Amino acid sequence: MAELSLSVHGGVEDPEAASSCVACHGPVHTLAFCAEEASRVHRTHVAEACGSCHADPALAERYKYHMVRPLEAYLQSVHARIVAEGGSGPSCSDCHGAHDVLPSASPESPVHHSQVPKTCGGCHEEITRAYEQSVHGQAIAHGIDESPVCTDCHGEHRIISPAEEGSPVYASNIPKMTCGRCHSDVRLAEKYGLDPAKVPAYEDSYHGLASRAGAVTVAHCGSCHGIHDILPSSDPTSHIHKDNLAATCGHCHPGAGTSFAIGTVHIIATEAEHVAVYWIRRIYLGAIFVLIGAMVVHNGLDLYRKARRPDRQPARLVNRVYRRYPPRMSLAFRIQHLLLLSSFIVLVYTGFALKFPEAWWAYPLLQWEDTFGLRGWIHRVAALVMVAAAVLHVVHLTASRSARHAIGAFVPNREDLTELWERLSFLLGRRKIPPPAPWVGYAEKLEYLAVIWGTVLMAVTGFMLWFDDPMLRLLPKWALDVATVIHLYEAILASLAILVWHFYFVLLDPLVYPMDPAWITGRSASRRLAERLEGRQAEKRGPADQR
Ligand code: HEC
Ligand code: HEC
Ligand code: HEC
Ligand code: HEC
Ligand code: HEC
Ligand code: HEC
Ligand code: HEC
Ligand code: HEC
Repeated sequence: MAELSLSVHGGVEDPEAASSCVACHGPVHTLAFCAEEASRVHRTHVAEACGSCHADPALAERYKYHMVRPLEAYLQSVHARIVAEGGSGPSCSDCHGAHDVLPSASPESPVHHSQVPKTCGGCHEEITRAYEQSVHGQAIAHGIDESPVCTDCHGEHRIISPAEEGSPVYASNIPKMTCGRCHSDVRLAEKYGLDPAKVPAYEDSYHGLASRAGAVTVAHCGSCHGIHDILPSSDPTSHIHKDNLAATCGHCHPGAGTSFAIGTVHIIATEAEHVAVYWIRRIYLGAIFVLIGAMVVHNGLDLYRKARRPDRQPARLVNRVYRRYPPRMSLAFRIQHLLLLSSFIVLVYTGFALKFPEAWWAYPLLQWEDTFGLRGWIHRVAALVMVAAAVLHVVHLTASRSARHAIGAFVPNREDLTELWERLSFLLGRRKIPPPAPWVGYAEKLEYLAVIWGTVLMAVTGFMLWFDDPMLRLLPKWALDVATVIHLYEAILASLAILVWHFYFVLLDPLVYPMDPAWITGRSASRRLAERLEGRQAEKRGPADQR
């Protein structure tokens, strides 16, 4: 047997070596034609025959080849299952040969990198034909070894169905384990003139975020690029050629791109060429820095000043005054506030769980993401509750004169400037006593306006993303990119504002600490009234007393 002696097994002088016929075929008395089941080299037994040596990791170590447990991996594959069922799946010898087994490094070996498509193609003909036309297949044909062959994406021995979660080509594994592995590699990118930013751009896109959370219905790389027939966008037959994009997106978003061309898909927020997204992001980051920074300074100084100046009002007086004031929040306002509060917290949690799907606190929410987008539905229900609270508020204002009167106090006016000026002199230590706090001061007014602004903006952009299919039919894609970026940065701004501004005035402020109970009882903390009272008295006594 010349074949055998030339094969990798041929030269082995070890007593356990495969160079003897018996090693694979078994003792003479068990010999049978390999077409018979009884034969040790019948298709259904080949794995055992090869495995009698190759299941042992020590063998790989002794002979310095790298494939440590091929049998174990192979036995988990669809191929092994098909073979065991008597089907036409490959056994070891279908890929490696029987008597002519060669190391994978040998260019004549059927498992040499460049030969793999041909080997798999013996059975998967159609896929292999498509692959050979693709950018990857053509690159392999031109000797570019770093381009993927079948086994780079599927593995060689543990090949399982793409429908199984453990597969590297399972929908939500594709971006990271399969395409991203090479396409985010800077060295490869430089060598072959690829753009490594496409992968992070995908990961930060809506599809990418949802995919990272485990969703399998959103687009992965292959949903747009194709799988075995990937071609550059410049090729008119490519799925991502600009003329074919409407059809490509249309598989999942019916009618997408009918009013406007789809345009650029991979958006990189930090690149000036994506004008709208780039500027909105920059403006928001600037606004967040300035506004939240100012709030931190304002409240930090306020805390510092008040901490150094223990409350001097006798409780008796405060309580007497307290009872004279009307409730700060009527029952209807408290209900609206409660709806707003609960939906806001849920929205923040579920929203940021999408933005940071790998975070530990997002984990409980994303358990069922592949089969049921629980997170997304909670987010949508909470959004509806928030919108309902807003509608209730408007109806309440329309129906009730006293409500209108109460909210009328939130309209900004010139006294706010005076208050701000006096407050600043207090904060800077030029005045001993805080200015008389009006019933509704600039702090509350700012907040009320911010709630209106934020709710409208978040609702509009949120519904655009929710109803993405009609939006993609009616609007250019960049409009949705703008909606996405606004939705994100407005969420960050709003969360920080609540944390720094609102929570200070209702929780941390020494005047109300540990909490202003108005949102529960309707009545404001007596110590806040104390500040107003003290301010008033000081004012009556004249400016000298304020120093
Ligand atoms: C590395 C394992 C291995 C060794 C060693 C080996 N064979 Fe085989 N042999 C096989 C396998 C596997 C098949 C079945 C091939 C197939 O199904 O395509 C086979 C098939 C055959 C067949 C065809 C049987 C038939 O029924 O069609 C003959 C004949 C044969 N081997 C002879 C030998 C002889 C003689 C030796 C020793 C010089 C030898 N083999 C050594 C693995 C081996
Ligand atoms: C009797 C034990 C034995 C059996 C049975 C056996 N092999 Fe091997 N095989 C070896 C040994 C030992 C080497 C290492 C040879 C060397 O590197 O010089 C090897 C090497 C290989 C290599 C190349 C590894 C490398 O790069 O050096 C492949 C591929 C391989 N065997 C496949 C098979 C297949 C497929 C079968 C079944 C048809 C099989 N072997 C059956 C012992 C066996
Ligand atoms: C579907 C095809 C396929 C089947 C079936 C298959 N292999 Fe492989 N095997 C490959 C490919 C492709 C490689 C090359 C991997 C690489 O280049 O790193 C390989 C590599 C190996 C290696 C290391 C070879 C080397 O030179 O480094 C061994 C050993 C091996 N296979 C043994 C087996 C055994 C034993 C079986 C059966 C239990 C088996 N293979 C079944 C495709 C297959
Ligand atoms: C001897 C024929 C044969 C060879 C060689 C072969 N396969 Fe298969 N393969 C099958 C059969 C049969 C099935 C099961 C039927 C099916 O689902 O298509 C299968 C299934 C698969 C599946 C799972 C398909 C699914 O939807 O569940 C993948 C992936 C796959 N093969 C990849 C490969 C790769 C990669 C290679 C080369 C390394 C290869 N096959 C070599 C015959 C083969
Ligand atoms: C760039 C990565 C990549 C390469 C290279 C690749 N595949 Fe695939 N393959 C995939 C992905 C991803 C899927 C899953 C597609 C899906 O979910 O619809 C897949 C699915 C499959 C399937 C099962 C689904 C089907 O369409 O029937 C088979 C079989 C298959 N590939 C065989 C091959 C063969 C054979 C080759 C080599 C000629 C190959 N693949 C090369 C990524 C690749
Ligand atoms: C093993 C590494 C590897 C994997 C895995 C891989 N690619 Fe590639 N890809 C390359 C290389 C290398 C090239 C460059 C080929 C050339 O220049 O001819 C390339 C080219 C491309 C191109 C053309 C790029 C251009 O600018 O012309 C696209 C598109 C592409 N790949 C998409 C994908 C997708 C989608 C996947 C996953 C399904 C994937 N690739 C998986 C290595 C890989
Ligand atoms: C929603 C569809 C979609 C998804 C998902 C997608 N891409 Fe793209 N990709 C495109 C389009 C369209 C282009 C053309 C340039 C553009 O619009 O940004 C492109 C361009 C590319 C290019 C440059 C190739 C060229 O010829 O312009 C590479 C490389 C690439 N994508 C890789 C990936 C990888 C890797 C993934 C997954 C991590 C991925 N893409 C996910 C649609 C998509
Ligand atoms: C495999 C199916 C699939 C493909 C192909 C696909 N998408 Fe999507 N896309 C989805 C799913 C699912 C969602 C989430 C819908 C939801 O949760 O309401 C989504 C969401 C979106 C959104 C809304 C979210 C956001 O923030 O942007 C846009 C816009 C979008 N896709 C654009 C595109 C474009 C453009 C293409 C083509 C280049 C495309 N999609 C291709 C499945 C797909």
